[in-house]
Amino acid sequence: MDAKTGDISGCPFHGNAGTRDLFGRRNRDWWPDQLDLEILTEGGRAADPMGEDFDYCEAFNALDYKALKQDLTDLMTDSQDWWPADYGHYGPFFIRMAWHAAGTYRTGDGRGGGGSGQQRFAPLNSWPDNGNLDKARRLLWPIKQKYGKHISWADLFILTGNVAIESMGGPVFGFGGGRKDVFDPETVYWGTEEKWVDTGAETRIQPDEGMALENPLAAIQMGLIYVNPEGPGGNPHDAEGMARDMRETFARMAMNDEETVALTAGGHAFGKAHGAKPADTFGSAPEGETLHRMGFGWLTDPDEIGKGHITTSGIEGAWTPNPTQWGGDYFRLLFKYDYELVQSPAGANQWQPINPDPEDMAPDARDPNKKVPTMMTTADMALKRDPEYRKISERFRDDQAALDDAFARAWFKLCHRDMGPKVRYLGPEVPSEDLIWQDPVPAGTQVSDSDLSSFKSKVLDSGLSVSELVKAAWASASTYRNSDHRGGANGAHIRFDEIKNWAVNDPEELGKVLAKLDEIRGSISMADAIVIAGSAAVEKAAKDAGFDISVPVTTGRGDAKREDFDAESWEPLEPFADGFRNYLKTKASVKTEDMLVDRAHLLGLSIPEMTALVGGLRAMGAVSKHAKHGNSIGVLTETPGKLDNSWFVNLLGMGVIWEEVDDSGDEEFVGICRKTGKELWRATRTDLVFGSNSRLRAVAEVYAENGNEQKFVNDFVKAWTKVMDADRFDLSYAKYHK
Ligand code: HEM
Repeated sequence: MDAKTGDISGCPFHGNAGTRDLFGRRNRDWWPDQLDLEILTEGGRAADPMGEDFDYCEAFNALDYKALKQDLTDLMTDSQDWWPADYGHYGPFFIRMAWHAAGTYRTGDGRGGGGSGQQRFAPLNSWPDNGNLDKARRLLWPIKQKYGKHISWADLFILTGNVAIESMGGPVFGFGGGRKDVFDPETVYWGTEEKWVDTGAETRIQPDEGMALENPLAAIQMGLIYVNPEGPGGNPHDAEGMARDMRETFARMAMNDEETVALTAGGHAFGKAHGAKPADTFGSAPEGETLHRMGFGWLTDPDEIGKGHITTSGIEGAWTPNPTQWGGDYFRLLFKYDYELVQSPAGANQWQPINPDPEDMAPDARDPNKKVPTMMTTADMALKRDPEYRKISERFRDDQAALDDAFARAWFKLCHRDMGPKVRYLGPEVPSEDLIWQDPVPAGTQVSDSDLSSFKSKVLDSGLSVSELVKAAWASASTYRNSDHRGGANGAHIRFDEIKNWAVNDPEELGKVLAKLDEIRGSISMADAIVIAGSAAVEKAAKDAGFDISVPVTTGRGDAKREDFDAESWEPLEPFADGFRNYLKTKASVKTEDMLVDRAHLLGLSIPEMTALVGGLRAMGAVSKHAKHGNSIGVLTETPGKLDNSWFVNLLGMGVIWEEVDDSGDEEFVGICRKTGKELWRATRTDLVFGSNSRLRAVAEVYAENGNEQKFVNDFVKAWTKVMDADRFDLSYAKYHK
């Protein structure tokens, strides 16, 4: 719970938006005239021109990394007439580009971030907060073109940020490559507001009205990466609100107070803000610009650009007298002077030092001989106005080495938080130190075939039921998120109380299963034992239904050490709803079936995979006891514990009529026999949606059809194995580390 905002739900699907669509406002809502390419991706046709055989990690490993870094260093001072470098150095501009690429990451669902080059696409390419970053990306294009497939845009954005910092004498902690570009704009819930940074509207946090920042959002308004730099809702006098907004948005980027201060101050050691002219003198954002602008937006008269008359945020000026040199000037000035509120030429609120000494003036961006006042944004002022931030700021002011270290580490975390386990980092600059936010897991040992089969026999003789074993394995593996590659069965984090006790896990039952497995596992890691046991149960369930199959298991998972487990950082991984286990905490603002789809997406599943898993888990009785009807709701089969297609057959059977259960809030339904009028089944929305939704029904029909019984079992096993192995980067990435 967030004490400041009063957010007790922690739910990614609860919020201020009332009932809402899973994805809120989408690209077509913003740009109704946008060329519609979706039909060309129908039928599973890929938008990615590289094809399935292309292996980006392999291509990255063959990159001439040193040469690329040299080219990037040269680019920093290779000023182009069409967008001259402020102070003759593009470094600060590129840092902002990288920061905004990574800064969309949010812990709530692990989405956003710099992992796939999304800044190239709408809506991010056109967010007001990303103003003029289209120019930064075009400045990089010749280099991207030169190195081609060996460097993705996603990696290039972040690496360029690193090189920029280094080229201005700043500290960096390292770089891990391996971010594969995507070619579709990601569908992400960015909010429901119909205007970008609507100045007339309330921001997303209104404590007086009990309004908390809706999860999983991490920005204070639509179109921002984090906060409004002028203050909450543009109010520069609300110091408390400014710090509150920063604390909340940065926390959702996985940053604590110290990291927030280090990042903001460290970032603003460099460069300047741009607010030379009123914003309405400039063109539209890239996605809405006319065709011949070639994807450029926020257009300005070239003469004005030459003079440095550029407006981006509307705030104008540099933070320090040396905007292309790392150092301690930011804090020195922040604390040396009192600041007064002024308006930029573009009309934005900002703070200016009162009576600055001449040596504390900044150079003009185009004329080093001309001196102009420095400035602070309202957000910068929070670093001395908020008591907690102030303590940290004063420490950094007095200890440059501490700031160097904190900035380098926080920057590294910012840029790599969404990459998952460290094994996914490639290249010569990956730091050797393990960091707790990488969820380190020691390497495990392969289980021999004989140990595997003897453990399986012990499991099946242990008295634990199919449903219990399947649920335990699912609970462990399904924590995985394809968004930031966290969670999963490796590490057996499920055995830590903080995870085990999630309501979705039926803690008492899970505790019993884990204790038993621990007792009989011998030298097998808990992480492997949980998966092997679940898979043995699936084999038994199939066998009991007459299907002789084997469920492939990979082994070699390790058990995470307690001291390497950051419990708080795992909190957002707790499912509010898990349709696979028919679990729903409480009714949310998003439909329960939408949450199933969301979860399936985070697990990286297709429609048939999701369908087969739901049908199979239900048939085996693997549903949460949390539901009103205990462990029977949604188990539409006479033979729970067997893996067969009975769930589909019964769901689609014409002998049943479904009715809503009174007072269930449209969440629970009763299946009544048409002939006898007797109750046959109880089900939820995530059951019935496979009969009501035409696309899901089409797939469910396939699994209910005569002749497809074996196909269903095979498809289930494939999808099950995919989930169990979803986080095995230790295996899939081994070849890149030879
Ligand atoms: C520029 C706000 C955090 C790096 C700016 C600008 C604003 C701003 C308004 C001016 C943009 C323009 O008009 O060109 C904020 C706020 C922050 C924050 C409110 C947090 C509360 C950060 C962080 C970094 C960073 C974490 C990087 C670690 C930069 C850099 C520039 C910049 C390098 C200069 C860009 C240039 O010279 O073109 N920021 N920022 N900022 N920001 Fe931040």
